[in-house]
Amino acid sequence: MATRRAFGRLLLSSGACLTAAPRWLHGQQPGAEEFTGAGSLKNHAAAHGLYTGAAVNVALMRKDAKYRQTLIEQYNIVVAERSMKWGPLRPTPTTFFWGDADALVDFAERHGMAIRGHNLCWHEALPTWFASTVNKGNAERFLTDHIRTVVGRYKGKIRAWDVVNEAIEPKDGLPEGYRNGPWYQFLGPRFIDIAFRTAREADPHALLTYNDYSIETDSAEDTKKREAIAALVERMRDKGVPIDAVGVQSHISATSAAQIDGGLSHFVAHMQGLGLKVFITELDVNDDGLAANEAAAREKTVAGIYGSYVTGMLRHKAVTDVLTWGTANRWSWLNAPAPYGVKFRPKHPGREEVCLPFDNNYQPLPAFYALRRALDSRAL
Ligand code: XIL
Repeated sequence: MATRRAFGRLLLSSGACLTAAPRWLHGQQPGAEEFTGAGSLKNHAAAHGLYTGAAVNVALMRKDAKYRQTLIEQYNIVVAERSMKWGPLRPTPTTFFWGDADALVDFAERHGMAIRGHNLCWHEALPTWFASTVNKGNAERFLTDHIRTVVGRYKGKIRAWDVVNEAIEPKDGLPEGYRNGPWYQFLGPRFIDIAFRTAREADPHALLTYNDYSIETDSAEDTKKREAIAALVERMRDKGVPIDAVGVQSHISATSAAQIDGGLSHFVAHMQGLGLKVFITELDVNDDGLAANEAAAREKTVAGIYGSYVTGMLRHKAVTDVLTWGTANRWSWLNAPAPYGVKFRPKHPGREEVCLPFDNNYQPLPAFYALRRALDSRAL
């Protein structure tokens, strides 16, 4: 692509007649109406050494051929939306259910896709037995046994693990902004060090990632959370705790997207300066706050946010992976039935969010083309 652009610039500078020039010289994507093969997201990503993918609903992957085909055509990396979390993996304190996680890993390997592991330590999606079984005395053993078992099973197969998810929440009022979750209550902040060190031992080649949300805008809350995460990463580096990347979940609200400005860019540059990669791990755009009931108008606004957000992030060379949290709108967690229907759609609980790049027939929406153009911006 770079060569073609260099040729284009040469052509333009020579004043050559542009009527015969290829469409791409006018800034149109070649085959803009095509969206597979050369026109796929993964083809445009790979042209710049980037990964692009989505969170996968394994139950849907098993039963929906069109969904599987879309995953294969569009993505060079996938992550389990649920199947690798504690709850789905751990039916009892002493047994594991590997069926869904194995199915995703097998699918990804068969189709040459990289895999993100999500996640090894979180305050949510815990199994029903967790609260009555895990305590201060055994929490470290449960955490290390879980990580050794899960990371060990997929050793060499996982590009990056979300080792700890969402451990910072300044609203909880704890020192250094830690979230008052079960792992913190049992082990204090050292649970983070334990998790990362154990994951490194279990798979030295996986990129160990700290993943979090609501760090994208310049609001006071996001700014405070971003600063607490930067301080956490600095402390980890100072102690020699292995960490390779930070995941910016990127659950963007259409009504606060305009507040995404200097703060996030400064944070990414800071992480890049520390030698870390930065991943867009769970991109979607919540359109509940948009007044237009007509979906096409919201799709256009959402596409604009996809384009500006990903283009802005890709200006930083540390940003290498761009994943959306789902593929087709209907299956987004934002469109899940209650209680999400209320939690994410308080203004329009009955209105389907147009939050992802594909419609419910897996046809590309404006957000697809905006995302594809953003991936191409990496070459500029
Ligand atoms: C969500 C899933 O999409 C839902 O299906 C599930 O019920 C709850 O978790 N941040 C994360 C993801 O790191 O794991 C969450 O995924 C969305 C928020």
